[in-house]
Amino acid sequence: MQRPHAVVIPYPAQGHLNPLLKLAKLLHSRGFFVTFVNSEFNHNRLLRTRGPASVAGLPDFQFTSIPDGLPPSDKDATQDIAELCESLLKNGLPPFLDLVDTLNNAGCPRVTCIVSDGHMSFTLDAADRLGLPAIYFFTTSACGFWAHSHVRGLIERGIFPLKDECQISNGYLEATEIDWVPGFRNMRLRDFTSFVRTTDPDNVMINYNLIQTKNAARATAVILNTCEELEKEVLDAQRQRFEKVLSIGPLHLLERAIEDPQLQAIGSSLWKEDDACLPWLDQRAPRSVLYVNFGSITVVSTAQLLEFAWGLAGSGSHFLWVIRPDLVIGESAVLPRDFLQEVAGRAVMVGWCAQERALAHPALGGFLTHCGWNSTIEGLAEGLPMICWPFFAEQQTNCRYLCRNWEVGVEIEGAVRRERVAELVRELMEGEKGNEMRLRAEEWRDKIRAAAQPGGSSCLNLDLLVNEILLKK
Ligand code: UDX
Repeated sequence: MQRPHAVVIPYPAQGHLNPLLKLAKLLHSRGFFVTFVNSEFNHNRLLRTRGPASVAGLPDFQFTSIPDGLPPSDKDATQDIAELCESLLKNGLPPFLDLVDTLNNAGCPRVTCIVSDGHMSFTLDAADRLGLPAIYFFTTSACGFWAHSHVRGLIERGIFPLKDECQISNGYLEATEIDWVPGFRNMRLRDFTSFVRTTDPDNVMINYNLIQTKNAARATAVILNTCEELEKEVLDAQRQRFEKVLSIGPLHLLERAIEDPQLQAIGSSLWKEDDACLPWLDQRAPRSVLYVNFGSITVVSTAQLLEFAWGLAGSGSHFLWVIRPDLVIGESAVLPRDFLQEVAGRAVMVGWCAQERALAHPALGGFLTHCGWNSTIEGLAEGLPMICWPFFAEQQTNCRYLCRNWEVGVEIEGAVRRERVAELVRELMEGEKGNEMRLRAEEWRDKIRAAAQPGGSSCLNLDLLVNEILLKK
């Protein structure tokens, strides 16, 4: 009998690439032949940043690429998300169908299933045409996916689009409770996807997400990088709407059980990691360092960068701050000399780091985050209390769950001000409230880690995905 062959395709951005690659490796370690499909843009970027070995694959784990439909570019920066979404919707299907056809005639096992990012609905069209099972992987939290799934409800209730731009800042978002979504707790309009903050009914990102979440009903199964212990209420509510919903996270913990060192070593970072921060962390006392990282898409103005810088300086805390080369809108991040002098000896700034390793370091005591889901679950898995500064999309929802429902975070509300940053950092690292959040974060950490152990809920769900869905179809 031929080996099962999974074609795994992420949405082409860092926060999606990482969990999809981890799942692909896990499938490979359970006997699958894997083809991992990058966009040509990201494939070339990986070649430039990580070298040819990064996409060379293994004999039965191959990398390939298809175009994203945008004009070619060799910029080492995050692509415009709205442009990318529109282009994939319009242009994704033909090259993907061609690819599967090529694979089926390439001498490798015939393609038996498609494991696709939940933002790539053209893969479901392909699966329909080819008669293949399709797994739809939403790489956000269950609560984030659920908020996106209920934008239709906002439209039906006349809440979206907003009537007036003023509603964004006049307290309306905070005052509008969303108490009609099953499985949700303590949700306000403010905690919904940031894409609803517009008067434009034709907003590209809203329409894109409406299409993607609606399409989830067509998938053989919906999977999420979370666990029952963390999001049971929401997951159970989703099971009333979709036939099969499986939580299989945190994938970065499940990935650690992979025994093949060559497979383990395959990475997906689109920026070159600066490892200098790790020996620096080795020199620091346990729980003494605040880790600051806003992920791969967030951008800030120079003014915001400076508020963060002086806030961190004013906190007196030690900190590791990752300042991505394209973090500041339209220019490169330049920090003032007097700031650098002030924090010398107690701070390190790098352009990109091996985040999972940094977060796992015992020197870390807290995380200032944009609440991207990968960062959130990676931070939770290490028991770190968080200061939340959500940027966009479902990060608002993650922030609400962190602060209100899981009680491990505190949000920087409104415009970022240095005094507030300093105050929150001090409270998190040294204060009573910070300590309480840390203790709760450690409780969540233990539950989340148990889910990823053999016999834990996520491991069992992965078994089910493989044995009952992908191999039986
Ligand atoms: C986002 C979020 O996933 C999501 O909220 C949104 O819908 C779209 O994409 P991103 O902003 O990049 O992605 O954040 P995050 O989800 O945290 O993913 C970043 C990934 O890059 C993480 O896995 C993190 O470990 C990794 N990373 C980040 C590094 O390895 N090094 C870094 O320096 C920064």
